This record gives sequence, structure tokens and C-alpha cells, in this order.
Amino acid sequence: MTGPIRVVLAGASGRTGREVGKAILESPDMELVGAIGHRQAGKSVDAIWPGVKSEIIITRELPLCDYPAILVDFTEPGSAFQRVLEAAAQGWHVVIGTTGFTADQIDMMARQVADHGVGGALIANFSLGAWLLERLVKEAAQYFTDAELVEAHHPHKRDRPSGTAKRIASTLASSWGKPDDEIPVHAMRLPGMVAHQAVIFGAPGQILTVRHDVHDRSAYTTGALQAIRHIDRFPGRLIQDLGELVEH
Ligand SMILES: NC(=O)c1ccc[n+]([C@@H]2O[C@H](COP(=O)([O-])OP(=O)(O)OC[C@H]3O[C@@H](n4cnc5c(N)ncnc54)[C@H](OP(=O)(O)O)[C@@H]3O)[C@@H](O)[C@H]2O)c1
Repeated sequence: MTGPIRVVLAGASGRTGREVGKAILESPDMELVGAIGHRQAGKSVDAIWPGVKSEIIITRELPLCDYPAILVDFTEPGSAFQRVLEAAAQGWHVVIGTTGFTADQIDMMARQVADHGVGGALIANFSLGAWLLERLVKEAAQYFTDAELVEAHHPHKRDRPSGTAKRIASTLASSWGKPDDEIPVHAMRLPGMVAHQAVIFGAPGQILTVRHDVHDRSAYTTGALQAIRHIDRFPGRLIQDLGELVEH
């Protein structure tokens, strides 16, 4: 790709989209060319991101562009699913942060990305700390045989348990050759929480807790920007491991 990487951001008015959007505007190698939302459609981006200069108007649909862009999505799974299929069909790479998709929806998005030869990333958690947590959990699973997960989020989070907790439970289950639903996951939704995950390993006489806390959604920006920068290196694949994008 020559010139700046053009990005259309869905969820621009959301808690996470706002942070990622501001990071995109501050990145000299990227250009924000579109913003998608629902209730805030019709407003300009600078009306909802205080202190930012941008005249982009939030739309409900993918904007018409006569050049390829990257769709970055932090919304909700129903609309995101359709948008991802549509963006891939018009040759756009897709970087998806939205969580809560069904297994069938994920399969269909993976097929769409493969059929159209575009790069896709479906990353449940873009924070580097959560990615490291998963690596540490894999390591610990070689020495412990019992663990439970506790995840806590703000009360507005719709999916439960979180995509990150489901992914970690699946990592543990495959390390131990068990079905995913045999790993207990406890989910809390409380004011004052942002995004917290803990994996508690137990063995006679000891416990090991591996834990990650997000206090501020800027935690997601580094991983999201890395995904945007490198997604074109993975044509036809829907990557679900942030490691592939940060360790390219
Ligand atoms: N992968 C990660 O690292 C990561 C990190 C944090 C959150 N997430 C996920 O990202 C998603 C958003 O989380 P959030 O906390 O930022 O949510 P949020 O604050 O509620 O924001 C939701 C955003 O989605 C937009 N939206 C809702 N329905 C829509 C529709 N039908 N069409 C187009 N846009 C629509 C909203 O637009 P309006 O305001 O205009 O209605 C808003 O911009 C969730 O799935 C969450 O789990 C992922």
C-alpha cells in the first residue's frame, strides 16, 4: 500500500472506538476516511471527540470510497457481522475488535475473507497485557491441572462472559484436552470496573493467579494500530491471535 493507510472506523462514538480513533488521527501513516455509528449518525467526528479536528460525518452504512480502505470495527456483533461481510466483498481488509459473535458468524467471516483474498483480524483483546496473560496461562497449564477464570467488566458490556475469557478458557481446555465448557468462568458486571481478567490455578498447598487489568481504554490502541499496519500481510486469513500481528 502506498500513501497513508485509509481507515473507516465503525463505533467511532463508542468508548473504545473513540480511543482507537484518536490514536489513528495521531498516526502519521494513517488517515481516517470514514466513521460509522448508529444513534450519533449525522454528527461530525469533532462534535463527539472533544479537542479533535475532523469534519468526517458519522454514517450508518459503509461510506462509498473509490479506493480500498480498512474497516476497523468496535460496535456490536449484529451490525458488525453484516458490515464485515460487505467490506470484505468490496476488497477491504477488516480489523474487528467487536466481541460476542456466534461460532457460525465467525466461520462465515473467515470464509468471506478467504473468498475475497483480503486480510482479516478478529481480536478479542487488543491490549498487549492480555496477549501476554494468554501466553503465561499456556505456560502455567503445562504444570497445573486445575484453574478457574474470573472476569469483571463495566455494567454496559453486553456479552458475558467476555470474548477474552472465552478465548483463555479455550486455550486452557485445549492444553488439557477438555471441552471448553469444562473450564469454569465467573463473570461480574459492576460500576467502577473497566476490563479485568484473572486465571487462578490451584494445586495442593498453593495457588497461582495470573491477572490483567485495564483501567483506561487507551490500553487497546497499540495492538489495534499494529493490526491496521500489518493486516495486508495476511491475505485470505482471519487471524485471531494478536501475537501474529505484533510479532510479524
Ligand atoms: N477487542 C478489544 O480489544 C476490545 C476492547 C474493548 C471493547 N471491545 C468490544 O468492542 C465493542 C464496543 O465496545 P464499547 O465498550 O466501545 O461499546 P459502546 O461504548 O457501547 O460503543 C458502541 C459503538 O457501536 C456503535 N453502534 C451500536 N449499534 C450500531 C449499529 N447498529 N450500527 C453501527 N454502529 C453501531 C455505537 O454508535 P452510536 O453511539 O452512534 O449509537 C457506538 O459507537 C464491544 O463488542 C466490546 O466487547 C473490544
